[in-house]
Amino acid sequence: MIIAIDGPAASGKGTLGKRLAAHFGLRHLDTGLLYRAVAKALLDAGHRLDDVAQAVGVARALDPARFDETALKRQEVGEAASIVSALPDVRAALVTFQRDFGRSPPGAVLDGRDIGTVIFPDADVKIFVDAAPEVRARRRASEFDGRVDEVNVLADILRRDPRVHAAARDNIALQYAIEHGLRRSLATLSERRGVPLAHGRRCPEEAS
Ligand code: DC
Repeated sequence: MIIAIDGPAASGKGTLGKRLAAHFGLRHLDTGLLYRAVAKALLDAGHRLDDVAQAVGVARALDPARFDETALKRQEVGEAASIVSALPDVRAALVTFQRDFGRSPPGAVLDGRDIGTVIFPDADVKIFVDAAPEVRARRRASEFDGRVDEVNVLADILRRDPRVHAAARDNIALQYAIEHGLRRSLATLSERRGVPLAHGRRCPEEAS
């Protein structure tokens, strides 16, 4: 089973993904960490961020089990990741990586910005997580333990995300608390696919 979770940065898709993966005994991949890991490897080795050959080599050898999430979540790594993620050859290597990861048994929960649209348009379940810009800014700021100012983060989110900017202006931004999102996701899964809600039980397709 493949569960694809899309949504903007700091919307809570990672937290929801981890919870769903734990619930169903699936593996979880925060796909943004792949781009971050490639960027960090280039930075650490002193390579240029547009060194395509080096970047593709790193991308093909990634092992998510060895990721240091705290280090990868740093702001400077995120900025480097956005440069690396613009390289078509790196994207191609990481698209392959994500598809291989998702298709290996017993399946996976993958979250990232284009999972349900580009990577797994045929995922068994697709979830879009969103949150008000203020909620996302607070969450992102708390990840940095007060080292960044929430107001600046909010300004950055509004500047970089025209879709959310428009949504905020029209006051139609969806506000999902994680618990609410998890409950809704599980209820929808249960309803649509006959997946049991209780812990420790298997979904029908895994049991066969
Ligand atoms: O979501 P994030 O901030 O951890 O993502 C880091 C970078 O990777 C960001 O610039 C967007 C890019 N990315 C992507 O292109 N496709 C994904 N599925 C996930 C992230």
